[in-house]
Amino acid sequence: MQGLGYVGTAMALAIADARDGGEPAFDVIGVELPTERGREIADSINSGRLPIESADPKMQEALDKSHEAGNLSATTDLGACGSASVAVVSVNLDLQSGELGPTVDLSGLRAAVRDLASKLQPGALIVVETTVPPGTCKPVLVPEVESVLAERGLPAGSLMLAYSYERVMPGPDYFDSVRSYWRVYAGETPEAADACEAFLSRVVDVASFPLSRVSSTTAAELGKVLENSYRAATIAFMEEWGRFAEAIGVDVFEVIEAIRVRPTHSNMRQPGFGVGGYCLTKDPLFAPVAARELFGLSLDFPFSEEAVRINALMPLVTLDQIDQMLGGLDGRRLLVLGASYRGGVADTRQSPSAAFTSAAVARGAEVVVHDPLVAEWELPVAPVQELPDPTGFDAVVFAVVHDEYLAIDLLGWLGEARPLVIDANHVLLDGQLREAAGAGCRVWSIGRGDVAA
Ligand SMILES: NC(=O)c1ccc[n+]([C@@H]2O[C@H](COP(=O)([O-])OP(=O)(O)OC[C@H]3O[C@@H](n4cnc5c(N)ncnc54)[C@H](O)[C@@H]3O)[C@@H](O)[C@H]2O)c1
Repeated sequence: MQGLGYVGTAMALAIADARDGGEPAFDVIGVELPTERGREIADSINSGRLPIESADPKMQEALDKSHEAGNLSATTDLGACGSASVAVVSVNLDLQSGELGPTVDLSGLRAAVRDLASKLQPGALIVVETTVPPGTCKPVLVPEVESVLAERGLPAGSLMLAYSYERVMPGPDYFDSVRSYWRVYAGETPEAADACEAFLSRVVDVASFPLSRVSSTTAAELGKVLENSYRAATIAFMEEWGRFAEAIGVDVFEVIEAIRVRPTHSNMRQPGFGVGGYCLTKDPLFAPVAARELFGLSLDFPFSEEAVRINALMPLVTLDQIDQMLGGLDGRRLLVLGASYRGGVADTRQSPSAAFTSAAVARGAEVVVHDPLVAEWELPVAPVQELPDPTGFDAVVFAVVHDEYLAIDLLGWLGEARPLVIDANHVLLDGQLREAAGAGCRVWSIGRGDVAA
């Protein structure tokens, strides 16, 4: 397993958990970069501690089980994986700003695959899981593998290459989202596709979650980017409807629930505080990058690009609302509840709370951020883990759907304090909002014109 981040750690655990006739199906070696963080991750796994916070107990259980079985270890020495029959690539691939717009530097992924190709024995399978601009495996990674094979004096095609993307959802169902979920895959050759299918069938519960084979790695790569672009675009779409509902006194969530009964609309999205995380914020832009840089095409992707732009601006809609309700932000004290990008996770990459906090501080507000799972993030305002006393705050902002906030005794916690209560992410129940309003707080809830006071 190359790359032990949010995805690679979960996948390594799922592979180590696989059983053939009651015995571990695989010996798993996780490989990280020889950096300080890479060594920390490897040490953590080797000493039985998860390298990432997880609200899903199955992650630690799987790690404990692998320690008992002795079939999972981690290292920063790639040489350790020379005997592997399957190598899974789950390294990061970041989006950058370029002169012509967003771009992707493929050199790290190229180097990762070259490193593997220089170590693996003929006949081994490389499964790339990293989300890539569609068209990366065939014209970029296959030539890398072939050139390393030539340098080693091995015949072309001595290593197989397949692509299969993850749909992992860090959160309460983290582990099951790897093992008990549908997977899409493709091979560069029919043999590679067969080998990938055989591998995934031993790791994933394919009896309940059948695999989908598509006809090329480019199709599989496009599948991942399309899935996430679709999700990002439908979330962005709901933002304008949430604002319309707020303006005309309607509860958009009540309406969405009624619409979702209709099977064709059962997965309708809802407005929220914003879209963060590593994937939905970058993946929709991988299509324009691929079109321009890999295929030399001049194609427009207005929905995908607009979705990323609107989603990134969403936290500022909440900030503007508070600004207007407080009559300015300068010198105001705001308490933000939640720093991560999603409930039940500690991941703060591209977190809407960070965008909100930076903008609020820039407008003169003093911000305290609470998160039960996050102790540090990229901003100078470090999140606190103990829920602060709300006394002295002008506004409290429920930003992330963490269990701790869902279970809050709102009036008990508020005590004598009467801040503006902002539900920016549909965290609070109708009754809680009305209680707060009844007790004298001004309340505002995203998408809910019926409770604004
Ligand atoms: N986070 C998610 O929820 C999610 C979901 C589905 C798919 N993905 C995709 O999975 C991929 C990985 O995402 P992530 O969230 O795990 O990223 P991450 O940054 O948490 O982890 C990537 C890890 O790879 C390591 N790495 C980089 N180059 C390496 C190399 N040459 N050798 C060994 N290790 C190397 C990094 O040190 C890092 O720890 C991305 O393409 C992402 O888009 C992520």
